[in-house]
Amino acid sequence: MSTDRTIGRTVKIKTYQALVELAQDTSSYVKSSYGGLYAIAVINSFVILPVGSERVVAIVTALDMAEEPEAALRNQQMLVIARPRRTMWVSMIGTITQDGREGKHFEYGVRRYPELDNPVWFASEDDLDIIFDKKGRSDPRHVTIGKSPIFTDYEVTIDIDRFFGKHAAILGNTGAGKSCTVTAVIKAVLERGMPNAHFIIFDTNNEYEQAFTGTGDDSSARRSPFFDRLILRNNGDIPKGLIVPHWFMNGLDYQAFFRPGEGAQAPLLFRAISVARGKGQPKSAVLNVIHRVEETLAAIDTIVTESPRSKASFKGKEQLREQLSPLAAFLDQEKPVFSAVGLTGTWEATNTGTMNMLKEAEQTEEARRSSYPSEPITALIADRITREVASIRAQFVQANHALLTDSDAPIGIDTPRHFDFNEFVDFIFAEELQREAGRDAKLRSYVGTLQLRLEQARQDPRYAFMFHLKPFQHALASFLRLLLGIEPAKHFGEARPPWAAAYSEQYSEPKRTHQVTILDLSQLSSDVLENVAALLGRLVLEFMQRIPDRGSFPVVLVLEEAHRYVPENAPLDRQQRARDVFEKIAKEGRKFGLSLVVASQRPSELSRTVLAQCNSFIVHRIQNPDDQQYFRSVISGINRELLDQLPALAQQQAIVMGDCVRLPLQVRINTVDPRPRSDDPEFVGIWSNPHSAVPDVERIALKWEGKESE
Ligand SMILES: Nc1ncnc2c1ncn2[C@@H]1O[C@H](COP(=O)(O)OP(=O)(O)O)[C@@H](O)[C@H]1O
Ligand SMILES: [Mg+2]
Repeated sequence: MSTDRTIGRTVKIKTYQALVELAQDTSSYVKSSYGGLYAIAVINSFVILPVGSERVVAIVTALDMAEEPEAALRNQQMLVIARPRRTMWVSMIGTITQDGREGKHFEYGVRRYPELDNPVWFASEDDLDIIFDKKGRSDPRHVTIGKSPIFTDYEVTIDIDRFFGKHAAILGNTGAGKSCTVTAVIKAVLERGMPNAHFIIFDTNNEYEQAFTGTGDDSSARRSPFFDRLILRNNGDIPKGLIVPHWFMNGLDYQAFFRPGEGAQAPLLFRAISVARGKGQPKSAVLNVIHRVEETLAAIDTIVTESPRSKASFKGKEQLREQLSPLAAFLDQEKPVFSAVGLTGTWEATNTGTMNMLKEAEQTEEARRSSYPSEPITALIADRITREVASIRAQFVQANHALLTDSDAPIGIDTPRHFDFNEFVDFIFAEELQREAGRDAKLRSYVGTLQLRLEQARQDPRYAFMFHLKPFQHALASFLRLLLGIEPAKHFGEARPPWAAAYSEQYSEPKRTHQVTILDLSQLSSDVLENVAALLGRLVLEFMQRIPDRGSFPVVLVLEEAHRYVPENAPLDRQQRARDVFEKIAKEGRKFGLSLVVASQRPSELSRTVLAQCNSFIVHRIQNPDDQQYFRSVISGINRELLDQLPALAQQQAIVMGDCVRLPLQVRINTVDPRPRSDDPEFVGIWSNPHSAVPDVERIALKWEGKESE
């Protein structure tokens, strides 16, 4: 065992940390090897501690030099000479093991700790090859995202299956390089030649068009078959490609959008939507009727179980009649709905039961004559009514069974089936409201805000890209194809979807696929952004869940500025729809091959659930102490010292850690060119150019005032 590699000895050991005293004769801390010069005692460089046949790999985390007095006898006099004592703290992070057959390999974690006075070696070329896994570089799963800033020859690779397979986070202050890193990672994948890769970027700042579009001479990006990207934009009231039919929303989406108040408003909205969707499908119509009858039955339950001594009970029968008479009228009108699906028997039984109950609730002679009609429900009547209710419910259980086991499923509130929004507001919702208001007179005064929001949705031009759409064939399929890049133009011949023009503008010849879909959400107001992001995320998740061959179509969702729509704490008046959806994707997506890459400058404001599901991290400079602290709490493992460097990282530098690498390490991310468009306005350039453009004030003001007709 050669010892000329020895640079020092351990003098203190604290679990995984060791204090190393550097040898006095280590005159130079720079070693040269055929790869070039590298420093052996600088932060983040590696050293080796030989322990038996194993070699413990440690990373330098602190350096120190102290003058130590040393007495020497010279010329018969005692002299005190200051002698520098150089020490460094190292963190042991892994082991190079020697396995006879497989050769040497690096493993994360320490199995045997060194003793005191253990020699410490600088890491040789060989060691570095093993640590950086030079051999594994040929593994197609590994792609290069950058280089080691210390060992400039060493490329840093990440395991793509792990990086995407178990969600990843790219964090750091504004301007630290997150968007460039997202671009570098995607480009590294595409350059590997993966024509079936699918990325959907939720681009909140309109940065990525530039990053994925070749500029000037360097049109390689445009030419390369692997850089096909589609931009779907929404410039507020002039959508270009990003057109999202409202009927793709489910009940919860509509709820988040219209924010009906507690109590009666939400059920009213839900029922109206179910009715609107189910129009034309008899099965759904029956289910809607059954649902309404069940609600009345529940109300009847409450009345009969009310204590007979309660104040209200002297009006018990009257209350029953208030429920039952409208029910009888309603059933009468809905009879054909039942016969259409062969459930006349159910209707007969329900109707008979209702009539029987009405008879029980009839006014007595005395009550009619008295000026203070007291009509309590006797125990006998309560008993009979309870029985009728139970028998109707039993009928419904059977009917539900018959309806639901049938192959073609009934249309419910969540079925993404078209309904016309104008008709919905003017007729269906109005009718439902009318009916409900008959039972609950106060309802009208509650639903004012809900009606206002419905009205706004259909009139506000900002929502036109959702609510002003005519139905068209294959709407959902066509939309999914566009989003996921699966022959997007397949149905253009039969039925031109509203985004067909935007697609054809970018691809005059329809493509089989595109790998990157850029959703430019930069012009959407924050509430719309949240709801649209939630809807798109959910549609992708549900599509993936419905693919019979689980995980056979992997897709990556990139969430830029994720804290904006996946916050840990949202304002109280907001539905947290986007957060709910993306948390669900974080928890369940990987089973179905749906992966998240979240980029954020405020990890502490980002949903904890989402961040906790991320298993790989690329972290740029983070200065905010809260964010650093937060990050510490999320990251487990022994390499916390590395996190101390976060405030000092330069632009484009990052620490990559987690599942995608074998050990956490610093990386200088590959330079990307073209770059994503930076957020930062350039003051000097614009201010000093006499020909700089000025904004069209009138146009903006007119539009603002709602006076411009498009
Ligand atoms: N990998 C990189 N390649 C090229 N330029 C980079 C890279 N990383 C950072 N930069 C520089 O830093 C600037 C900010 O990077 P950006 O990714 O927009 O930061 P963030 O998204 O964190 O706000 C870029 O405009 C570019 O000048
Ligand atoms: Mg950015």
